[in-house]
Amino acid sequence: MTVNKAIEIKGLSYVYPDGQRGLKDIDLTVYCGESVALIGPNGAGKSTLLLHLNGILRGSTAISVQGLQVVDKNLREIRKRVGMVFQDPEDQLFSLNVYEDVAFGPVNMGFTREEVDRRVRQALQKVGMQGYEKRSSHHLSIGEKKRVAIATVLSLDPGILALDEPTSSLDPRGKWALTELLRTLRVTKIIASHDLDLVSCLCDRIVILDEGKIVADGVAERILSDKRLLAEHGLAMPADEITSALLT
Ligand SMILES: Nc1ncnc2c1ncn2[C@@H]1O[C@H](COP(=O)(O)OP(=O)(O)OP(=O)(O)O)[C@@H](O)[C@H]1O
Ligand SMILES: [Mg+2]
Repeated sequence: MTVNKAIEIKGLSYVYPDGQRGLKDIDLTVYCGESVALIGPNGAGKSTLLLHLNGILRGSTAISVQGLQVVDKNLREIRKRVGMVFQDPEDQLFSLNVYEDVAFGPVNMGFTREEVDRRVRQALQKVGMQGYEKRSSHHLSIGEKKRVAIATVLSLDPGILALDEPTSSLDPRGKWALTELLRTLRVTKIIASHDLDLVSCLCDRIVILDEGKIVADGVAERILSDKRLLAEHGLAMPADEITSALLT
């Protein structure tokens, strides 16, 4: 039944305006409540795929979010449903200060001043950035920007979280705290990451992308234990290569 499907993608291809292929024939269904990792080498198409989920990019076919097609007339509703954290936090932060960045979504949704305050406070607390409200987002460290970028999405309480490299630039404590936080959020998650620790802690299912195509889709434990598959797609070094690299 459609209601169980958080995301449905059938035969999606995407070519960038300069002719570079981004995605080819992607078929992917993510069910409500799943945590799915998108892994793959640099340039595999992970970010390109995520950017289709809330209509920032549009490919050869319309995709569905909780049964609603990602087309112009539905974009406002789609963006309420899908909280997108971009790979580069600079793409997410554009207001005068941290408070306004995190309040931007709730203000746009028409919440009362008190409700906006409550949401901002809660979201900043969740990412460990309380007290930073008046700081300029652009003067934060990269890891701090990353946390605020995540808070801008949490303040909207979306049913689907699409996270692009959420732990990159975070220190070990920040990474652990974010992993724990994401684990407690009972929402559908799609996470593009090179961080296999995060993936193994959070995701029950892993999709491997390479050269714009899905090359594997399965239970996380199975994929992560398939060293040959990981090595074939540049996600792990085969043990013998590591040994010979250390010896030379
Ligand atoms: N704006 C763009 N214009 C042209 N080509 C692009 C653009 N953005 C990405 N690409 C190309 O599309 C392909 C997929 O890129 P994408 O950013 O989705 O990869 P990725 O899997 O997210 O990689 P990474 O692990 O480095 O983040 C690459 O070949 C990339 O060079
Ligand atoms: Mg990327």
